[in-house]
Amino acid sequence: MNYRALVIREDRGIFTCKEEELHLEDLDKNEVLVRIKYSALNFKDALSMSGNRGVTKSYPHTPGIDGSGIVERSSNPRLSINQEVVITGFDMGMNTYGAMSEYVSVPSEWVVPLPDGMDLAHAATLGTAGITAAIGLDKMEKYGLQKGAHILITGASGAVGSIAVALFGANGYKVTALSSKPQAVSLLKELGAYEVIDNFDTDNPKPLLKPRFDGAFDVVGGKLLASILKQVSPEGCVACCGLVAGTELSTTVLPFILNGVGLLGINSATYPASKRAHLWNILQTLPKEKIAPLVHLHPLKEVPQLAKTMLEGKSLGRALIEI
Ligand SMILES: NC(=O)c1ccc[n+]([C@@H]2O[C@H](COP(=O)([O-])OP(=O)(O)OC[C@H]3O[C@@H](n4cnc5c(N)ncnc54)[C@H](OP(=O)(O)O)[C@@H]3O)[C@@H](O)[C@H]2O)c1
Repeated sequence: MNYRALVIREDRGIFTCKEEELHLEDLDKNEVLVRIKYSALNFKDALSMSGNRGVTKSYPHTPGIDGSGIVERSSNPRLSINQEVVITGFDMGMNTYGAMSEYVSVPSEWVVPLPDGMDLAHAATLGTAGITAAIGLDKMEKYGLQKGAHILITGASGAVGSIAVALFGANGYKVTALSSKPQAVSLLKELGAYEVIDNFDTDNPKPLLKPRFDGAFDVVGGKLLASILKQVSPEGCVACCGLVAGTELSTTVLPFILNGVGLLGINSATYPASKRAHLWNILQTLPKEKIAPLVHLHPLKEVPQLAKTMLEGKSLGRALIEI
């Protein structure tokens, strides 16, 4: 039997990506076969499609780190045929064929039964972006962040940032969204930002500055993250998940040893399966209607162009892909 999937191919260092027909018999024979209904585009997918070996070691490859769909075959009694499920992270879409495809074959540990009251489109929309925001919120609250605290969210118009704005807003935080895009201001306010700012001074050489925020959720990294650490209140914290501005972090230890600021790392891909139900509970505070303004639906064939736009830093909101 044939199925349709997006396939990235490499020819002498040039990477191309388009829809192809593949044979289902050739798909890895893992414990669970899922017929995918929705995927959603993530930065990691865009990196995989550009040939980034830190994400995908060998090609041809099918991207898609997020997928929701229906179990077609399962050798694990926890998952029954026709059950609706969502899969985010682990190795799917990295070195295991991903969900920009009509089918995925994955280990049962990666598969989460669809959370109560959620439909397949909403679960994929939240996907890795939502899980990442939920890990950040959970870790920051465990560090001591109190409801009502003032939080900075960077890269706010992107997939993770826009869902984080909505999630922190829905959970009672005062959110300042940092976005370079004037066209995102009304969307971010609608999602729950109390204010939107379009720049952040990253050039002040002082090791500590007047505190402006109780905490921050950062997708950007680099000089911006270093500057944010200087401006977080004593005993505040910063959750860090991204690298869109680079992987380097140059800081002194003073925010940590004089202000007691915590830098909390997030890795949504390897986050333990046993703790994921809690994250989906946190995400239940974001009903479908709340995040509807940030979602745009696309067919599979538009993914390569969307990925290009994403790598240029021009994405707005969350691209939901109908398979
Ligand atoms: N650790 C994890 O588990 C995890 C999970 C998911 C994603 N991530 C990472 O999080 C980051 C964001 O992912 P995403 O899916 O939200 O990507 P995205 O949709 O492309 O959003 C990134 C946003 O960051 C801002 N931006 C882009 N380039 C920038 C630059 N050079 N300097 C400053 N700001 C810049 C832009 O927002 P504005 O125009 O609004 O400023 C852009 O929309 C990526 O690095 C991704 O790999 C990590």
